[in-house]
Amino acid sequence: MTQSERANFGTKLGVILATAGSAVGLGNVWRFPYMAGENGGAAFIIIYFFCVLVLGIPCMISEFIIGRHGQSNTARAYRKMGGKAWSVVGIMSVLTGFLITSYYAVVAGWCLQYLWASLAGDMQGDPAYFTSYFTAFTQHPVKPVFWLIVIMGITYFIIKKGVEKGIERASKIFMPTLFILLLIIVVASCLLPHASEGIRFMIQPDLSKINSDVFLSALGQAFYSLSIGMGCVCTYASYYSKQTRLASTATEIGIIDSIVAVLAGLMIFPAAFSVGLSPDSGPSLVFITLPNVFQQAFSGIPILGYVISPLFYALLSLAAITSLISLHEVSTAFFAEELSITRKKAAFIVSITTSAIGIFCALSFGVLSDVTIAGMTLFNLFDYVTGQIFLPVVGFLTCVFIGWFVPHQIIRDEYANFGSTSAGFFHAYLFLVKYFCPFCIAVIFLRQLGVI
Ligand code: TRP
Repeated sequence: MTQSERANFGTKLGVILATAGSAVGLGNVWRFPYMAGENGGAAFIIIYFFCVLVLGIPCMISEFIIGRHGQSNTARAYRKMGGKAWSVVGIMSVLTGFLITSYYAVVAGWCLQYLWASLAGDMQGDPAYFTSYFTAFTQHPVKPVFWLIVIMGITYFIIKKGVEKGIERASKIFMPTLFILLLIIVVASCLLPHASEGIRFMIQPDLSKINSDVFLSALGQAFYSLSIGMGCVCTYASYYSKQTRLASTATEIGIIDSIVAVLAGLMIFPAAFSVGLSPDSGPSLVFITLPNVFQQAFSGIPILGYVISPLFYALLSLAAITSLISLHEVSTAFFAEELSITRKKAAFIVSITTSAIGIFCALSFGVLSDVTIAGMTLFNLFDYVTGQIFLPVVGFLTCVFIGWFVPHQIIRDEYANFGSTSAGFFHAYLFLVKYFCPFCIAVIFLRQLGVI
């Protein structure tokens, strides 16, 4: 495919909304609040902003540069810039993206089930009910698989329509809707009695909570939330035009993503504190603690008592699906270009294969819970291998690649759109990707492995 034939996002707004759609996902609404809850609230949030600024944004710019320069899928983009040896990193990111699609779709399917259940009025009961509801659902042999297939089907229909008519159009509808839902719930939550305690938890840092683990968690979360290290950002950047300003786009995405994360906190903490429930319950926060919080906090209030849960799970589903689309697109672009097949066929192959793998992950809570590898169920194994190993390795190698191997003139040309825009902060950016980012990522990685 020549450059001029290659699909592009149609508008600047499309670029921002699609990329923000990739970044804003379960990471913001599900992972960020429980991580902040576990790591001391405001203290974590301040460190998180710092990580987004000095690590997340530079890494995102680097992926943008590789993707837009390559004008192709991630594996080929690394090859074009760095030759055969570096294409291994590109292939690794496509593979990570592919594997994560399967397991991300499982959780995205759960969101749909919860949306359905809350619409049907099933999200009512005592605290024990919510725990047993979650366990019964995730262990069910059919339901999680059904919702996995539904969400993958929706993703397939969007992806097959193409970049502008599919991804961009869906982002332009989903993202503003998500934002409106978020604001409604934030306002409702902050108006509850005792909401101020939750707000204080988010803005008053408890400095005694800061230790090296908080830094590590914040950095990991920044990478996850900005979709770095799996080819998503790189693939989307290959659809950017030569006029798109990479550094300012990355900064805007960083800001939007952080705002959504903070708003997600403002939706959850005030409601949780108002009913005296602690927001540090870990990954089960949005599926077990939250339905209980919403029910207790809003049950006496007309209308809100009924609509708050469905609105929340609609929001969660929208956030999940836009990220799932970006993950799916990484492999779709790869198969379409490497096998020279149509986009539709490539999308079909990806949907079928990731669903097949996803079924094993979905069942690993119930029927397949005895199948373990290295002591982990399939779901946990995927989460661990992709998130804790592939992601930092790809992120590290990408920084080393850009910082040390690619001629600086190429990087500068992409950064400043061949001189047509300013190269502000270029040296700061280069310093960060050359020294600071690889160092920090290496420390996190070794720490996670228990080496240091
Ligand atoms: N950033 C998304 C979220 O916040 C998840 C995600 C999508 C992701 N693509 C990714 C995470 C690539 C890491 C790498 O939920």
